[in-house]
Formats: sequence, structure tokens, C-alpha cells
Amino acid sequence: MGRTTIQPFFDPKTWTISYVIADAATRQAAVIDPVLDYDFKSGHTDTRSADAVLTHVQAQGMTVQWILETHAHADHLSGARYIQERAGGKIAIGERIREVQATFKKLYNLERSFLPDGSQFDHLFKDGEVFKIGEVEATAILVPGHTPADLAYLVDGAVFVGDTLFMPDVGTARADFPGGDAHALYWSIRRLLDLPADTRVFVCHDYPPKGREVRWETTVAEQRAANIHVRDGTTEDEFVAMRKARDATLEVPMLILPSMQVNVRAGQLPPKDANGVAYLRIPLNMLPKGEQ
Ligand SMILES: [Fe+2]
Repeated sequence: MGRTTIQPFFDPKTWTISYVIADAATRQAAVIDPVLDYDFKSGHTDTRSADAVLTHVQAQGMTVQWILETHAHADHLSGARYIQERAGGKIAIGERIREVQATFKKLYNLERSFLPDGSQFDHLFKDGEVFKIGEVEATAILVPGHTPADLAYLVDGAVFVGDTLFMPDVGTARADFPGGDAHALYWSIRRLLDLPADTRVFVCHDYPPKGREVRWETTVAEQRAANIHVRDGTTEDEFVAMRKARDATLEVPMLILPSMQVNVRAGQLPPKDANGVAYLRIPLNMLPKGEQ
């Protein structure tokens, strides 16, 4: 620990926390889960959130080496491509993104030239793959359950857990998206909780209970002692029963349909029509019904 700096960026519209983690010695940096702002009503994208990341990187004299996605997010558009266009870096995600791409290519009936082979990303991580941010070693850990392709990134005594664990008083991520699996999520989380007790845990979202400020950092020890869904002693059966019951009450995320078609493209907007305008597609009557 101590060889890296970590800067969080909170997006209050989607409750997402993006991070910049950098090797303090070389100032090589990884941007984790950057957001491209999207206004559902007007169909406008905006780069406020991603620009805040870029401003930080520039002010600190950092070089963007990696843009790391924990998974294809269903609640915000990825700012990965925008960050890459301005600051460089390789966009990476878990290799099982191919499964997610195949599912959503079918749902959206995407153009034939969209190949569900992960080629839209610069690098696909395997489970346990070791890579470097500057001189600091990092490991990609496959943590399926929320989606089949979720990764956590372990760097310098800190783990960026994506959509697995949330803060202890919020619990865990849902497991009812296409390819989601509450059993798999349980074992993915147990794997994270097997990391050393003092490992710093950085969450991807926070949905604070009334009266508490937004927070994003906790530890493995705190999660094991106090996570309301999966603290030590919670069995797989108990977790799965809780998760299924809870997921049945959750609404479809507001931005799932805009997000997924951009995020399976690594944050690239869809190809433009002949008139020079890019369009998002909304499949009608395909997703499970939300509350009316
Ligand atoms: Fe997610």
C-alpha cells in the first residue's frame, strides 16, 4: 500500500463513483468506470463528468495508461471512448463481455458489422490476469453474478469491486439482468471477502440510506462484519433467497436501454445514419415490465 494515489469522482445523477488510480512514482494512471452524462429527455450527451476526470489527470501530470471497465453498466453510458480520444489509454473489460455483447446484439438487433467478439475493446482480461499500472502490479478478478463479465481490480491493497458489494449498510448489487446469477454473485463476493481483512474496498455505486452522506470506501473487515446482505455467516441459500426477493421489487434502471447499446461498444456511440445523426434503439415490449 502507499504506492498509488486514488481519486474518486461521484456522479449524483447515476450514483456512480469513477476513480483515477495512479502509480505515485511514474504518474501512469488507470481511469475506472468513467461516466458519459446523458439526458434522457433531450437525448443529449454531455462530458461534464468525464471532463472532471481529464482535468484531474492533467493537473497531476498523469498519463492515462488504462481505462478499466468493471462491467457493461446498465445505469450510465461509459465515458471510456471520450477519455481515450482525449488522453489515450487502453480500454479494457473482462473477456466474458462477448456473452453480454451477444445477448444485447440480439435484443437491439444491432447492425451485422457489430461483432460480439470483444474487438471494440483494446484488451480483454482473463480471470487472475496480472497487469501493471506504471510499476505497480494489478490483478483482474472475475466476479460474475451481476453480469457474467464483471471484474474487480485489485491494486496496491485496494480493490475496486464494481457491482458486487456496495457499502455495508446498502448491501449488494442486483443479479436479475440478462446473464445475472445470484448464486454466482454469492461466490464472487466470498472471493472478494477472502482478500486480506485490511484491503480497502472501493464501490462503484452508493445509494445512501436517509441521513447518511454518500460514501465509497470501506474494508474487507467491515464488509465481513456488517454487510446487511452477505456478512460472515450468511449462507448461499440465504443470500440467494434474499437477492431474488429483493430483485423482484426493483425497477428496470432508467438508462438501461440507452446505456447497454453504447457500453457493449466500449463507450462508442452507435454508427451515424446517412443523415449524419446517431440514433439509439429502443426495443419495444422486450424487457420485463417495470412498474407503470
Ligand atoms: Fe452495473
